[in-house]
Amino acid sequence: MKKYLVIGNPINHSLSPKLHNYWLKENNIDAIYDKKRLDENKLKNIISEVKEEKINGINVTVPFKKAVIPFLDELSPEAKDTQSVNTIYFQNGITIGHNTDIAGFELAIKYAKYDISNKKVFILGAGGVAPSIIYSLKKMKASKITLSNRTKEKAESLKNLFEDIEIVDWGKTVNFDIIINATSICLKNEDGIKFDYSAVGPDKFFYDVIYNPKETIFLKRAKLFGNRTENGKMMFLYQAHQAFTLWHKVMPDINNEIIELLD
Ligand code: ATR
Repeated sequence: MKKYLVIGNPINHSLSPKLHNYWLKENNIDAIYDKKRLDENKLKNIISEVKEEKINGINVTVPFKKAVIPFLDELSPEAKDTQSVNTIYFQNGITIGHNTDIAGFELAIKYAKYDISNKKVFILGAGGVAPSIIYSLKKMKASKITLSNRTKEKAESLKNLFEDIEIVDWGKTVNFDIIINATSICLKNEDGIKFDYSAVGPDKFFYDVIYNPKETIFLKRAKLFGNRTENGKMMFLYQAHQAFTLWHKVMPDINNEIIELLD
């Protein structure tokens, strides 16, 4: 039986096992998908298990998407350009790190029927998922990308990967068509985003990468002021879909049952 894993710290919240095991069963694939909380000093060991084929594939989540890179033999162009790996596989004797968050975000935006081209985008947060979102936005031809992060140096360091993004101080608001919350602030349903909603709406698009809670305070407020909102559920689903297809060479179904499974 083949074995797959999602690694991170913390990892308890992850819905990846639920989703992948559902698809494995549905497609009659003899494999199991588990989750494992890790300390950073165990990354090397776990990746060597991929090389020994004790583990057949790994998803990587916060905070290890960059930290796994030195232990991999090769990176896909997307993983290299974002310095972010969320999917690991073994092929022709080498371990390869790939990034399916990029496609996950793009497909989620398409699913929402929103056209990014020529839009001004404001990103909050410079954590693990930010480079993938920026890469994806550039691919979809956003006209301008502005980013703000509490720790400004972290935002500035993203300019090493994407030199044409604009960085503004945390707490400052800019003019935008779509705003993306890529911070973990609203995870616990706390209100940590200082944002003057009345100054920007209505009819803007507010996107939150968080999908649990289903509607963060960020999205709730945005809606109150007449804006369109979307959570990160479809992004999560599509990144998993891409990883599953890569590992098993089978394209699993995305249907209402699966979408509801994640609620
Ligand atoms: P990591 O930083 O390890 O990549 P992450 O969950 O991917 O973890 O990212 C967390 C993001 O949420 C960061 O942008 C973080 O800002 P800092 O870089 O300043 O830490 C942001 N964040 C988390 N809690 C926050 C808070 N209370 N206020 C503002 N930003 C917060």
